[in-house]
Amino acid sequence: MKVLVVGGGGREHAILWKLKQSPRVSKLYCAPGNGGISDIAECVSLSALDIEGIVGFSLKEKIDMVVVAPDDPLAAGMVDALEEAGVRAFGPRKNAAELESSKVFAKKLMKKYNIPTASYEVFEDSGTALDYVRTAKLPLVVKADGLALGKGVLICNTENEAADAVISIMEDRRFGDAGKRIVVEEFLEGPEVSVLAFTDGKTIIPMESSQDHKRACDNDEGPNTGGMGTFSPSRHYTGEIHDICMEKIFVPTINAMNNEGRPFKGVIFFGLILTEDGPKVLEYNARFGDPETQVVLPRLENDLLEVFEAVIDEKLDTIKLSWKNETAVCVVMASGGYPGNYEKGYEISGLDSVDEDIIVFHAGTKKENNKYFTNGGRVLGVTALAGNMEKAREKAYRAVSRICFRDAHYRKDIGIK
Ligand code: AMP
Ligand code: GLY
Repeated sequence: MKVLVVGGGGREHAILWKLKQSPRVSKLYCAPGNGGISDIAECVSLSALDIEGIVGFSLKEKIDMVVVAPDDPLAAGMVDALEEAGVRAFGPRKNAAELESSKVFAKKLMKKYNIPTASYEVFEDSGTALDYVRTAKLPLVVKADGLALGKGVLICNTENEAADAVISIMEDRRFGDAGKRIVVEEFLEGPEVSVLAFTDGKTIIPMESSQDHKRACDNDEGPNTGGMGTFSPSRHYTGEIHDICMEKIFVPTINAMNNEGRPFKGVIFFGLILTEDGPKVLEYNARFGDPETQVVLPRLENDLLEVFEAVIDEKLDTIKLSWKNETAVCVVMASGGYPGNYEKGYEISGLDSVDEDIIVFHAGTKKENNKYFTNGGRVLGVTALAGNMEKAREKAYRAVSRICFRDAHYRKDIGIK
């Protein structure tokens, strides 16, 4: 089978790395891909947002399956367009991807179907929102409704911070039209866990849990990023908590989407917080997480192509996932300055000096004359698996210490919290 993966980051590299192990995959393509991806797939110079281009390419090359990985083409309806053209596609349709692309939609759904989440209010004009945050209980959380590269969430400890958040999102349109509406919600406390799950709209099969490190610097300091490292499994996500999540969150979410006439097929990412009152949903994503995928897929023993097919054909009930009983750690190496301004184009050395069993997923790289260069904020995700966290951390950091590029920045505490 010929498979095209849409996207070009570490998550897409991990999906392709896993698909490459399937005996039934004859050729892999990636649009647009990156330096590391070009070693295992043919990179196609189409933007991940170019719906017409991707549909045209898939028809011309007779692609058997297209995997749409990033949030924005899903929200824009790439899967709908592929299906209309008769191309098999993995990922939710536009009306289901709204679970991620509109926080207002997600919150209303959870309220309607009693799915545990923070209590909240929605505002469509800044005046009413400002009146509200001046009297609301602190701390509180202000969220832009739409997609904002994972940066549209502001935690406010004072009345002034809350007012500034409302003004910057709704009036200054810091996140563009994503800030036409906002959600203001209760601040919750507890450990955060990510659970990705395959679903065909009828059956839902959660993958192993993971934890992200969103802040740029050690001890969870510095600005929020797309994710500076992950590990799997989470030590907080016990079997007992899993059963509660299955009953009160995962299955009800799938049922709710069906009830709304928006069956969800693909991967749902549950961003959970384990509060004293039980697990609650912080957010939904309509896709694999980045860099969660870089620790979850290396632990998966199944043929990923078969799982994708079972989702598309609505036969997920025939699949049983099995997992390596190991801990995986992924340390992200980023460009100095990220998530703010950074330089690109520095040569990356040491990639071939890491141990055989280390998996280096490329996020922002390009390859020229057989050399790799930095080409984005997050550059590499260095993943190691071992029998326990201590050993996995040690292996991952040993590999990181051998890889060099100018101004490289990484957290030293991935897996400690
Ligand atoms: P989100 O994109 O909605 O997951 O939010 C990004 C991050 O903001 C989460 O991973 C949490 O760390 C934090 N966050 C979001 N909502 C809340 C909340 N209600 N209470 C506490 N922290 C939150
Ligand atoms: N790592 C969080 C995300 O993929 O949104």
